[in-house]
Amino acid sequence: KTCILIGAPMDAGKSRRGCLMGPDAYRTAGIGAALADLGHQVVDIGNVAPDAADMHADLPNHIHQPAEMIGWTSSLARAAEEALPRGLPIFLGGDHGLALGSVLGAANHAAREERPLFVLWLDAHTDFHTPQSTASGNLHGAPLGYVTGRDGFHGFPEVAHPIPHENICLLGLRSVDPDEREAMQATNVRYHDMRSIDETGIARPLADFLADVEAANGMLHVSLDVDFLDPSIAPAVGTTVPGGATMREGHLAMEMICDSGLMTSLDLVELNPFLDERGRTAQVMVDLAASALGRRVFDRPTRAYS
Ligand code: ARG
Ligand code: MN
Ligand code: MN
Ligand code: MN
Repeated sequence: KTCILIGAPMDAGKSRRGCLMGPDAYRTAGIGAALADLGHQVVDIGNVAPDAADMHADLPNHIHQPAEMIGWTSSLARAAEEALPRGLPIFLGGDHGLALGSVLGAANHAAREERPLFVLWLDAHTDFHTPQSTASGNLHGAPLGYVTGRDGFHGFPEVAHPIPHENICLLGLRSVDPDEREAMQATNVRYHDMRSIDETGIARPLADFLADVEAANGMLHVSLDVDFLDPSIAPAVGTTVPGGATMREGHLAMEMICDSGLMTSLDLVELNPFLDERGRTAQVMVDLAASALGRRVFDRPTRAYS
């Protein structure tokens, strides 16, 4: 594959600072060499900058950096649309606010290809807010609200191809705000909290989802939030929530994604190198990306789990 690294040094999705150092931490941890060692062609296009944008008067006043968020969304959507015809874009975040743009661009590309887009969201949080429902004002908690076409994102690029609810699967949930829970329960989004992963394992719900992506000839965008993982193995994130995925659950998910051959774009988000311990979280994220792109101990038959 051609892996296209796209740096998104953004902190606009929340007020705590540090995620803007993420792209350099991934590069320092050797993401390019790790993917090249697996036989991929790696193109690092450097870092994207936000478009100039104005805040929209109809957005609530408590939204953090609204103009920057609008600017990042349009520039990253364009970067995704430019990269997808050439390879597999990997967005090096930056906070999860980058996914408003990466998923928007992937959806626009999929529509052009006349293929459905599916989204796998690996996260402690649902990130399903609207600018009106978020209490924190941090739009890194709203990308899934935006790309599914929820109302209220005034001034943001139009979502011409909202992701159908049934094309979305969330794994790893353990911190969901009441408004998000209510809104999500009213949809047929597939969501699996940590309790259900404890009960069924991570392989079963993921295999079911991947089978549906394949049956629909879908494209698959994977959005990996550092806080999907337990803070004991991935401390470098502002929104730690205890009780997350283990190292093996993370790698198994990535290995299954790789075996499926379905992933067409990837976000690595919420790494805050300012909070890291000797680079270990950056390294874990690079290792997970490598698993998703073919690193393995032994070969296995394709789709061993479905
Ligand atoms: N639900 C909380 C909020 O909206 C936390 C969101 C955390 N999101 C993330 N991408 N880490 O403020
Ligand atoms: Mn900020
Ligand atoms: Mn998130
Ligand atoms: Mn999260």
